[in-house]
Amino acid sequence: MKLLITGGLGFIGTNFIRHWFSVHPSDSIINLDKITYAANPKNLIEFEGKNNYRFVKGDILDTDLVDPLVSQVDVIVHFAAESHVDRSIDDPLLFVRTNVLGTYTLLNAAHKYQKRFHHVSTDEVFGSIPFDSDEQFNELTPYDPSSPYSASKAASDHFVRSFHKTFGLPITISNCSNNYGPYQHPEKMIPRTITNLLAGEKIKVYGQGDNFRDWLHVKDHCRAIETIILHGKIGETYCIGGLKKGTANIDLVKNILSLMGKDESFIEYVPDRPAHDNYAVNWNKIHQELGWEPQYTLDTGLRQTIDWYQKHQDWYQDSKKEAEIFYQKLADYKNIHK
Ligand code: NAD
Ligand code: DAU
Repeated sequence: MKLLITGGLGFIGTNFIRHWFSVHPSDSIINLDKITYAANPKNLIEFEGKNNYRFVKGDILDTDLVDPLVSQVDVIVHFAAESHVDRSIDDPLLFVRTNVLGTYTLLNAAHKYQKRFHHVSTDEVFGSIPFDSDEQFNELTPYDPSSPYSASKAASDHFVRSFHKTFGLPITISNCSNNYGPYQHPEKMIPRTITNLLAGEKIKVYGQGDNFRDWLHVKDHCRAIETIILHGKIGETYCIGGLKKGTANIDLVKNILSLMGKDESFIEYVPDRPAHDNYAVNWNKIHQELGWEPQYTLDTGLRQTIDWYQKHQDWYQDSKKEAEIFYQKLADYKNIHK
């Protein structure tokens, strides 16, 4: 199979390309990535020069670049996005540009050449689960996004589905919960917490830390996407989530503190994120129809992730500096607007 991966130098794209080559070593991959602040060009350096891997630096909105790439492959797996909720508060238009217009540009190319299109989306499109509820999002949950990020992903999902209904484009969509694992940018909660502790700094907990998430190891997400590409039913959406539902941020943080041998004096409560959601995902459909289930417990995954960041401090130093400058700017913005 020949695949076009968009955003393959980001967190999940990098893990996905590594996973795909480990299971399908004779397949070919073109990796199209703009190399935004979120990418690390060194992530896949060992594949460069191999005859079945090609990196193309470019923008998914560039039709002249995208069309010939799409024409050469069997399937497009679309990861490229602006992915950070906090940055979408700072610059919503960038999220409309990349996540909505970028997806639309790729869909047009896929339609032109009638190629299979898998869209990697998020559980955030469904909005928020109330506190003290054991509700879970599923494929029938109505869309109700809260942030400019989730609104842009929701819009992109609608465009993907509309290209199937209107033009018969062979699509699938996955809506996944929070990923963690190696190669995640240190702006995100788990790597930010681990890297702060490695530097002997306090960790930042938004609000009271009672918002909850459904954590999934990135390798489990990559296996789920692979399963959908190989066996998923065209036109369908699949929800993907982890083994443990409703982990409150404060419990997650205490778990990481204990695994890293630190006490709770390292916790610093900071002003909350506006429109702060809660998530939990029911993944019965992909389990029952395609046989997928997560393999990592949160405990095993966190141990492996802490170990990875401990061993890869060079990998994140520059991006961590940039992320903390961004957070300072966001804190100033919150002070002005409170
Ligand atoms: P990321 O921010 O780590 O990586 C995004 C990648 O896309 C980067 O390499 C970046 O350079 C590239 N990119 C951005 N704009 C581009 C453009 N205009 N043209 C080409 N490339 C561009 O994101 P991630 O966490 O790996 O997420 C990947 C996808 O998975 C996103 O679509 C996101 O919405 C979705 N998702 C993420 C999670 C999660 O927990 N991280 C969960 C569910 C779904
Ligand atoms: O649910 C899937 C989504 O998960 C993806 O679609 C997004 O691309 C991905 O970034 C992630 O979004 P979140 O907003 O859930 O991730 P983040 O790591 O930013 O925050 C996780 C939780 O931790 C959230 O409740 C906010 C909180 N938080 C975050 C940071 C960075 C803190 O309390 N302190 C922090 O320093």
